[in-house]
Amino acid sequence: MYSRIISVGSYQPDNIVTNEELEHKVNTSDEWIRTRTGIESRAIAEPGQATSDLAILAADAAIKKSDINKDEIDLIIVGTCTPDVATPNVGVIIQESLELNSCPAFSVEAACSGFIYALNIANKFILSGESKCALVVGAETLSRITDWNDRNTCVLFADGAGAAILKPSEDTGIIYSEISADGTYSDLLYVPYGTSRKPINEKENDYFLQMKGNEVFKVAVKKLESIAINTLKKNNLTSDDIDWFIPHQANIRIIQAVAKRLDMPMEKVIVTLAEHGNTSAASIPLALDKAITDGRISKGDRILLQSFGAGFTWGTVLLTL
Ligand code: ACO
Repeated sequence: MYSRIISVGSYQPDNIVTNEELEHKVNTSDEWIRTRTGIESRAIAEPGQATSDLAILAADAAIKKSDINKDEIDLIIVGTCTPDVATPNVGVIIQESLELNSCPAFSVEAACSGFIYALNIANKFILSGESKCALVVGAETLSRITDWNDRNTCVLFADGAGAAILKPSEDTGIIYSEISADGTYSDLLYVPYGTSRKPINEKENDYFLQMKGNEVFKVAVKKLESIAINTLKKNNLTSDDIDWFIPHQANIRIIQAVAKRLDMPMEKVIVTLAEHGNTSAASIPLALDKAITDGRISKGDRILLQSFGAGFTWGTVLLTL
Protein backbone atom coordinates (compact mmCIF):
# COMPACT_ATOMS: atom_id res chain seq x y z
CA MET A 1 0.00 0.00 0.00
CA TYR A 2 1.22 3.49 -0.90
CA SER A 3 -0.07 7.01 -0.55
CA ARG A 4 -0.32 8.62 -3.93
CA ILE A 5 -0.74 12.21 -5.12
CA ILE A 6 -3.92 12.13 -7.21
CA SER A 7 -4.09 15.84 -8.07
CA VAL A 8 -2.24 19.11 -7.67
CA GLY A 9 -3.44 22.73 -7.79
CA SER A 10 -1.77 26.08 -7.32
CA TYR A 11 -2.38 29.79 -7.18
CA GLN A 12 -0.18 32.80 -7.83
CA PRO A 13 -1.45 36.33 -7.06
CA ASP A 14 -2.19 38.52 -10.11
CA ASN A 15 0.18 41.28 -9.03
CA ILE A 16 3.44 40.55 -10.88
CA VAL A 17 6.52 42.56 -9.89
CA THR A 18 9.39 42.54 -12.38
CA ASN A 19 13.09 43.00 -11.70
CA GLU A 20 12.87 46.33 -13.53
CA GLU A 21 10.30 47.53 -11.02
CA LEU A 22 12.63 46.60 -8.15
CA GLU A 23 15.38 48.68 -9.79
CA HIS A 24 13.28 51.73 -8.82
CA LYS A 25 12.97 50.63 -5.18
CA VAL A 26 16.49 49.49 -4.23
CA ASN A 27 20.01 49.72 -5.64
CA THR A 28 19.88 46.64 -7.86
CA SER A 29 19.65 45.68 -11.52
CA ASP A 30 17.72 43.20 -13.62
CA GLU A 31 21.06 41.80 -14.76
CA TRP A 32 22.31 41.20 -11.17
CA ILE A 33 19.07 39.50 -10.12
CA ARG A 34 18.89 37.30 -13.23
CA THR A 35 22.49 36.17 -13.17
CA ARG A 36 22.86 35.75 -9.37
CA THR A 37 19.45 34.19 -8.69
CA GLY A 38 17.64 33.21 -11.94
CA ILE A 39 14.59 35.28 -10.96
CA GLU A 40 12.91 37.54 -13.53
CA SER A 41 9.60 38.38 -11.86
CA ARG A 42 7.54 37.33 -8.87
CA ALA A 43 3.91 37.45 -7.74
CA ILE A 44 3.11 39.55 -4.69
CA ALA A 45 -0.19 39.30 -2.81
CA GLU A 46 -2.48 42.34 -2.76
CA PRO A 47 -2.61 44.15 0.62
CA GLY A 48 -5.90 42.47 1.54
CA GLN A 49 -4.77 38.94 0.57
CA ALA A 50 -3.59 36.71 3.40
CA THR A 51 -1.81 33.35 3.14
CA SER A 52 -5.09 31.43 3.59
CA ASP A 53 -6.67 33.31 0.66
CA LEU A 54 -3.94 31.92 -1.61
CA ALA A 55 -4.08 28.49 0.04
CA ILE A 56 -7.87 28.22 -0.37
CA LEU A 57 -7.63 28.87 -4.13
CA ALA A 58 -4.82 26.31 -4.55
CA ALA A 59 -6.69 23.72 -2.47
CA ASP A 60 -9.90 24.32 -4.37
CA ALA A 61 -8.03 23.87 -7.68
CA ALA A 62 -6.53 20.56 -6.46
CA ILE A 63 -9.95 19.31 -5.33
CA LYS A 64 -11.54 20.27 -8.67
CA LYS A 65 -8.79 18.47 -10.63
CA SER A 66 -9.34 15.28 -8.63
CA ASP A 67 -12.22 12.84 -8.78
CA ILE A 68 -12.93 13.12 -5.05
CA ASN A 69 -15.92 14.56 -3.31
CA LYS A 70 -14.54 17.22 -0.94
CA ASP A 71 -16.36 15.50 1.96
CA GLU A 72 -13.82 12.68 1.64
CA ILE A 73 -11.00 14.91 2.92
CA ASP A 74 -10.15 13.71 6.42
CA LEU A 75 -6.82 15.47 7.03
CA ILE A 76 -5.48 18.96 6.23
CA ILE A 77 -1.82 19.88 6.69
CA VAL A 78 -0.40 23.24 5.66
CA GLY A 79 3.27 24.11 5.42
CA THR A 80 3.74 27.82 6.04
CA CYS A 81 5.93 30.26 7.95
CA THR A 82 3.62 33.19 7.20
CA PRO A 83 0.28 32.18 8.74
CA ASP A 84 -2.60 34.68 8.69
CA VAL A 85 -2.54 34.97 12.50
CA ALA A 86 -1.05 33.01 15.42
CA THR A 87 -4.29 31.07 15.71
CA PRO A 88 -6.48 29.71 14.13
CA ASN A 89 -4.04 27.87 11.89
CA VAL A 90 -4.26 28.15 8.12
CA GLY A 91 -5.54 24.55 7.82
CA VAL A 92 -8.58 25.39 9.92
CA ILE A 93 -9.25 28.52 7.87
CA ILE A 94 -9.15 26.45 4.65
CA GLN A 95 -11.46 23.89 6.24
CA GLU A 96 -14.03 26.52 7.21
CA SER A 97 -13.87 28.35 3.88
CA LEU A 98 -14.20 25.25 1.67
CA GLU A 99 -16.79 23.74 4.04
CA LEU A 100 -14.74 20.60 4.59
CA ASN A 101 -15.43 17.99 7.27
CA SER A 102 -14.30 18.56 10.85
CA CYS A 103 -11.13 16.57 10.28
CA PRO A 104 -7.74 17.32 11.87
CA ALA A 105 -6.25 20.50 10.39
CA PHE A 106 -2.88 21.92 11.35
CA SER A 107 0.14 23.82 10.12
CA VAL A 108 3.77 22.78 9.95
CA GLU A 109 6.35 25.47 10.56
CA ALA A 110 9.46 24.44 8.64
CA ALA A 111 9.98 27.49 6.38
CA CYS A 112 10.83 26.46 2.81
CA SER A 113 10.64 22.78 3.80
CA GLY A 114 7.04 23.16 4.99
CA PHE A 115 5.46 21.33 2.05
CA ILE A 116 7.94 18.44 2.16
CA TYR A 117 7.47 18.10 5.93
CA ALA A 118 3.67 18.17 5.46
CA LEU A 119 3.84 15.56 2.69
CA ASN A 120 6.04 13.34 4.87
CA ILE A 121 3.49 13.55 7.72
CA ALA A 122 0.47 13.01 5.47
CA ASN A 123 2.17 9.94 3.98
CA LYS A 124 2.45 8.44 7.48
CA PHE A 125 -1.21 9.20 8.28
CA ILE A 126 -2.26 7.42 5.08
CA LEU A 127 0.05 4.44 5.54
CA SER A 128 -1.22 3.98 9.11
CA GLY A 129 -4.82 3.95 7.85
CA GLU A 130 -5.73 7.04 9.86
CA SER A 131 -6.34 9.11 6.72
CA LYS A 132 -8.02 8.02 3.50
CA CYS A 133 -7.83 11.39 1.76
CA ALA A 134 -5.39 14.13 2.75
CA LEU A 135 -5.12 17.72 1.59
CA VAL A 136 -1.52 18.94 1.78
CA VAL A 137 -0.79 22.61 1.13
CA GLY A 138 2.27 24.84 0.93
CA ALA A 139 1.33 28.52 1.09
CA GLU A 140 3.16 31.75 1.84
CA THR A 141 2.99 35.51 1.75
CA LEU A 142 6.71 36.04 2.24
CA SER A 143 6.23 39.62 1.03
CA ARG A 144 4.82 40.38 4.50
CA ILE A 145 8.07 39.50 6.27
CA THR A 146 10.36 40.94 3.59
CA ASP A 147 12.05 44.31 4.03
CA TRP A 148 11.38 46.05 0.72
CA ASN A 149 14.29 48.41 1.38
CA ASP A 150 16.81 45.55 1.71
CA ARG A 151 18.25 44.56 -1.66
CA ASN A 152 19.79 41.42 -0.15
CA THR A 153 16.38 39.85 0.40
CA CYS A 154 13.62 41.75 -1.42
CA VAL A 155 14.72 40.56 -4.87
CA LEU A 156 14.33 36.92 -3.80
CA PHE A 157 11.06 36.37 -1.99
CA ALA A 158 7.52 36.01 -3.33
CA ASP A 159 4.00 34.79 -2.61
CA GLY A 160 2.00 31.79 -3.78
CA ALA A 161 0.34 28.52 -2.84
CA GLY A 162 0.23 24.93 -4.03
CA ALA A 163 -1.81 21.96 -2.90
CA ALA A 164 -1.97 18.21 -3.40
CA ILE A 165 -4.59 15.57 -2.66
CA LEU A 166 -3.25 12.22 -1.42
CA LYS A 167 -5.09 8.92 -1.28
CA PRO A 168 -4.13 5.34 -0.44
CA SER A 169 -3.27 3.33 -3.53
CA GLU A 170 -2.04 -0.07 -4.56
CA ASP A 171 -0.15 1.61 -7.40
CA THR A 172 3.23 3.06 -6.48
CA GLY A 173 3.01 6.56 -5.00
CA ILE A 174 5.34 7.94 -2.35
CA ILE A 175 8.29 5.56 -2.29
CA TYR A 176 10.44 7.23 0.33
CA SER A 177 10.68 10.45 2.32
CA GLU A 178 13.31 11.85 4.61
CA ILE A 179 13.25 15.07 6.66
CA SER A 180 15.97 16.70 8.77
CA ALA A 181 16.78 19.83 10.72
CA ASP A 182 19.78 21.46 12.38
CA GLY A 183 19.07 24.40 14.67
CA THR A 184 22.75 25.30 15.05
CA TYR A 185 22.37 27.22 11.78
CA SER A 186 19.35 29.22 12.95
CA ASP A 187 21.23 32.54 13.02
CA LEU A 188 21.86 32.41 9.26
CA LEU A 189 18.20 32.84 8.31
CA TYR A 190 15.56 33.99 10.77
CA VAL A 191 12.85 36.46 11.66
CA PRO A 192 13.80 38.21 14.92
CA TYR A 193 10.35 39.35 16.02
CA GLY A 194 7.12 37.41 16.13
CA THR A 195 4.75 36.36 18.84
CA SER A 196 6.33 34.95 22.00
CA ARG A 197 9.95 35.80 22.82
CA LYS A 198 9.90 39.15 21.07
CA PRO A 199 6.37 40.31 20.30
CA ILE A 200 6.13 42.49 17.22
CA ASN A 201 4.89 45.49 19.19
CA GLU A 202 8.16 45.53 21.18
CA LYS A 203 9.96 46.91 18.18
CA GLU A 204 7.76 47.87 15.27
CA ASN A 205 8.87 47.02 11.75
CA ASP A 206 11.65 44.68 12.78
CA TYR A 207 9.94 41.46 11.88
CA PHE A 208 11.63 41.03 8.51
CA LEU A 209 13.62 38.02 7.35
CA GLN A 210 17.32 38.37 8.14
CA MET A 211 19.64 36.33 5.97
CA LYS A 212 23.37 35.74 5.60
CA GLY A 213 22.79 34.69 1.98
CA ASN A 214 26.30 33.65 1.17
CA GLU A 215 26.57 31.27 4.14
CA VAL A 216 23.06 29.91 3.56
CA PHE A 217 24.09 29.17 -0.01
CA LYS A 218 27.07 27.02 1.01
CA VAL A 219 25.21 24.96 3.63
CA ALA A 220 22.22 24.54 1.28
CA VAL A 221 24.34 22.98 -1.48
CA LYS A 222 26.07 20.61 0.96
CA LYS A 223 22.90 19.43 2.73
CA LEU A 224 20.91 19.12 -0.49
CA GLU A 225 23.62 17.06 -2.13
CA SER A 226 23.92 14.66 0.81
CA ILE A 227 20.18 14.14 1.35
CA ALA A 228 19.57 13.52 -2.36
CA ILE A 229 22.44 11.04 -2.57
CA ASN A 230 21.15 9.30 0.56
CA THR A 231 17.63 9.11 -0.87
CA LEU A 232 18.87 7.57 -4.12
CA LYS A 233 21.22 5.16 -2.33
CA LYS A 234 18.58 3.93 0.11
CA ASN A 235 16.34 3.09 -2.83
CA ASN A 236 19.08 1.55 -4.98
CA LEU A 237 18.58 4.23 -7.62
CA THR A 238 20.84 6.56 -9.55
CA SER A 239 19.97 9.90 -11.10
CA ASP A 240 19.33 7.98 -14.37
CA ASP A 241 16.31 6.38 -12.68
CA ILE A 242 14.73 9.75 -11.88
CA ASP A 243 12.49 11.28 -14.57
CA TRP A 244 12.16 14.69 -12.89
CA PHE A 245 13.98 16.51 -10.12
CA ILE A 246 11.98 19.30 -8.44
CA PRO A 247 14.17 21.18 -5.99
CA HIS A 248 13.06 24.10 -3.81
CA GLN A 249 13.23 27.21 -5.98
CA ALA A 250 15.63 29.50 -4.08
CA ASN A 251 18.50 30.24 -6.44
CA ILE A 252 19.38 28.86 -9.89
CA ARG A 253 23.03 28.57 -8.86
CA ILE A 254 22.10 26.35 -5.88
CA ILE A 255 19.92 24.22 -8.17
CA GLN A 256 22.67 23.91 -10.81
CA ALA A 257 25.33 23.07 -8.21
CA VAL A 258 23.20 20.32 -6.65
CA ALA A 259 22.17 18.91 -10.05
CA LYS A 260 25.82 18.78 -11.10
CA ARG A 261 26.84 16.94 -7.92
CA LEU A 262 24.02 14.44 -8.51
CA ASP A 263 24.95 14.01 -12.15
CA MET A 264 21.43 15.10 -13.00
CA PRO A 265 21.12 16.80 -16.42
CA MET A 266 19.38 20.18 -16.18
CA GLU A 267 16.86 18.93 -18.79
CA LYS A 268 15.40 16.77 -16.01
CA VAL A 269 15.24 19.60 -13.48
CA ILE A 270 12.04 21.63 -13.13
CA VAL A 271 12.98 25.30 -12.70
CA THR A 272 10.24 27.88 -12.20
CA LEU A 273 12.36 30.47 -10.40
CA ALA A 274 12.17 32.91 -13.29
CA GLU A 275 8.47 33.55 -12.83
CA HIS A 276 7.89 32.32 -9.26
CA GLY A 277 10.87 33.62 -7.25
CA ASN A 278 11.36 32.00 -3.85
CA THR A 279 7.90 31.23 -2.48
CA SER A 280 9.21 29.11 0.41
CA ALA A 281 6.80 26.26 1.26
CA ALA A 282 4.77 26.96 -1.88
CA SER A 283 7.67 26.57 -4.28
CA ILE A 284 7.61 22.81 -4.82
CA PRO A 285 3.84 22.34 -5.32
CA LEU A 286 3.80 25.44 -7.57
CA ALA A 287 6.59 23.92 -9.70
CA LEU A 288 4.96 20.49 -9.71
CA ASP A 289 1.62 21.92 -10.82
CA LYS A 290 3.26 23.96 -13.57
CA ALA A 291 5.17 20.99 -14.95
CA ILE A 292 2.06 18.77 -14.90
CA THR A 293 -0.06 21.49 -16.52
CA ASP A 294 2.44 22.19 -19.30
CA GLY A 295 2.69 18.46 -20.04
CA ARG A 296 6.28 17.80 -19.00
CA ILE A 297 5.37 15.59 -16.06
CA SER A 298 2.82 12.85 -16.56
CA LYS A 299 1.35 9.94 -14.64
CA GLY A 300 3.87 7.21 -13.97
CA ASP A 301 6.90 9.53 -13.87
CA ARG A 302 9.37 9.02 -11.03
CA ILE A 303 10.04 12.35 -9.31
CA LEU A 304 12.45 13.51 -6.64
CA LEU A 305 11.21 16.50 -4.62
CA GLN A 306 13.72 18.31 -2.45
CA SER A 307 13.59 21.25 -0.05
CA PHE A 308 15.88 23.41 2.07
CA GLY A 309 14.88 26.27 4.34
CA ALA A 310 15.29 28.32 7.48
CA GLY A 311 16.04 26.43 10.65
CA PHE A 312 17.79 24.88 8.81
CA THR A 313 15.30 22.29 7.67
CA TRP A 314 15.59 20.07 4.64
CA GLY A 315 14.00 17.00 3.15
CA THR A 316 13.14 14.82 0.17
CA VAL A 317 10.14 12.97 -1.15
CA LEU A 318 10.67 10.31 -3.82
CA LEU A 319 7.46 9.36 -5.60
CA THR A 320 5.83 8.01 -8.68
CA LEU A 321 3.03 10.25 -9.89
N1 ACO B 1 21.53 43.81 -6.30
C1 ACO B 1 22.82 44.18 -6.49
N2 ACO B 1 23.81 43.80 -5.66
C2 ACO B 1 23.49 43.04 -4.61
C3 ACO B 1 22.17 42.64 -4.34
C4 ACO B 1 21.18 43.06 -5.23
N3 ACO B 1 19.88 42.73 -5.07
N4 ACO B 1 22.17 41.88 -3.22
C5 ACO B 1 23.43 41.82 -2.80
N5 ACO B 1 24.23 42.53 -3.62
C6 ACO B 1 25.67 42.73 -3.54
C7 ACO B 1 26.21 42.56 -2.14
O1 ACO B 1 26.03 43.73 -1.37
C8 ACO B 1 27.66 42.25 -2.42
O2 ACO B 1 28.32 43.45 -2.68
P1 ACO B 1 29.85 43.69 -2.15
O3 ACO B 1 30.66 42.63 -2.85
O4 ACO B 1 30.14 45.07 -2.59
O5 ACO B 1 29.78 43.49 -0.67
C9 ACO B 1 27.61 41.44 -3.73
O6 ACO B 1 26.33 41.73 -4.32
C10 ACO B 1 27.76 39.96 -3.52
O7 ACO B 1 26.91 39.58 -2.44
P2 ACO B 1 26.76 38.08 -2.01
O8 ACO B 1 25.82 38.00 -0.85
O9 ACO B 1 28.12 37.47 -1.87
O10 ACO B 1 26.06 37.48 -3.32
P3 ACO B 1 25.73 36.00 -3.66
O11 ACO B 1 26.35 35.68 -4.97
O12 ACO B 1 25.95 35.07 -2.51
O13 ACO B 1 24.15 36.06 -3.91
C11 ACO B 1 22.11 35.49 -2.75
C12 ACO B 1 23.28 36.47 -2.85
C13 ACO B 1 21.34 35.59 -4.05
C14 ACO B 1 21.25 35.90 -1.57
C15 ACO B 1 22.64 34.04 -2.56
O14 ACO B 1 23.64 34.04 -1.55
C16 ACO B 1 21.56 33.05 -2.17
O15 ACO B 1 20.70 32.73 -2.97
N6 ACO B 1 21.61 32.52 -0.95
C17 ACO B 1 20.73 31.44 -0.51
C18 ACO B 1 19.30 31.87 -0.31
C19 ACO B 1 18.51 30.68 0.16
O16 ACO B 1 18.65 29.59 -0.36
N7 ACO B 1 17.69 30.83 1.18
C20 ACO B 1 17.11 29.60 1.78
C21 ACO B 1 15.74 29.41 1.57
S1 ACO B 1 14.78 30.82 1.97
C22 ACO B 1 13.76 30.41 3.31
O17 ACO B 1 13.92 29.47 4.02
C23 ACO B 1 12.64 31.40 3.59
